[in-house]
Amino acid sequence: MKVALTVDGLGVDFGGFKAVNNVSMSIDEGELRVLLGANGAGKTTLMDLISGKTRSTAGRVLVFDKEITNWPEHKIARAGVGRKFQIPSILRALTTRQNIEVACCHHHPSILSNLGWGFPPAVRARVEDILTLTGLDEVASKTAAYLSHGQTQWLELAILMAQNPKVILLDEPTAGMTQAETRKTAEIITMMRGRHTLLVVEHDMSFVREIAEKITVLHLGQVLAEGRIEAIENNPKVREAYLGSKGIA
Ligand SMILES: Nc1ncnc2c1ncn2[C@@H]1O[C@H](COP(=O)(O)OP(=O)(O)O)[C@@H](O)[C@H]1O
Ligand SMILES: [Mg+2]
Repeated sequence: MKVALTVDGLGVDFGGFKAVNNVSMSIDEGELRVLLGANGAGKTTLMDLISGKTRSTAGRVLVFDKEITNWPEHKIARAGVGRKFQIPSILRALTTRQNIEVACCHHHPSILSNLGWGFPPAVRARVEDILTLTGLDEVASKTAAYLSHGQTQWLELAILMAQNPKVILLDEPTAGMTQAETRKTAEIITMMRGRHTLLVVEHDMSFVREIAEKITVLHLGQVLAEGRIEAIENNPKVREAYLGSKGIA
């Protein structure tokens, strides 16, 4: 098993405040890792450091064997780190299917003239596969601007699947979702496991129980614990760190 993402002694110092402090973790190719921690623990900042949005002041980040520490954000994206943002990056004037086609063929020069026809059969099959996996086949021909909040989030996931980055970072993918939408999102992310390497920040514990393989708990910018869901939920240090916040159980 190859390691897809290595974070080694990573940290950032915001004028004396270490939001992320000496964090080390490695994620295997095809693994789905959940990042847990109370508000302010440093989860988003860690993702910012990995994706190059924020420059680190200590440590290293590697994607497979390539060190990408403090590269410019667009170069890190090109090196294979994909991230889902709170603000959707979909093309609102295109249909759901066309959005996925664009993402599948982002290195194809004549992509825009190809929309809707002329794609090689393998690409067409992949687009249909992703539409089915995300349950977006029902709205494949709908203009993306008219999708619901949940559908928009799933299209974001579909676009990431189509782009097929080496590592995918998801920061609270169920934020603002209903329970039914949250459950559906857990299904989609569970299906992405094995095909993609994922690091997912999530608070919803029913969601975490459903998808989690291995969990890393951040507390005050540092790794507090790492392990499987049962061990994490029964870990006294984790329980103590969550006291006064939303609670883990
Ligand atoms: N650019 C910044 N300058 C100073 N402090 C920051 C900056 N970005 C985040 N922080 C602080 O770092 C801590 C961790 O924030 P964040 O990573 O957003 O936490 P989480 O995502 O786990 O809720 C918080 O106390 C936050 O206020
Ligand atoms: Mg956050």
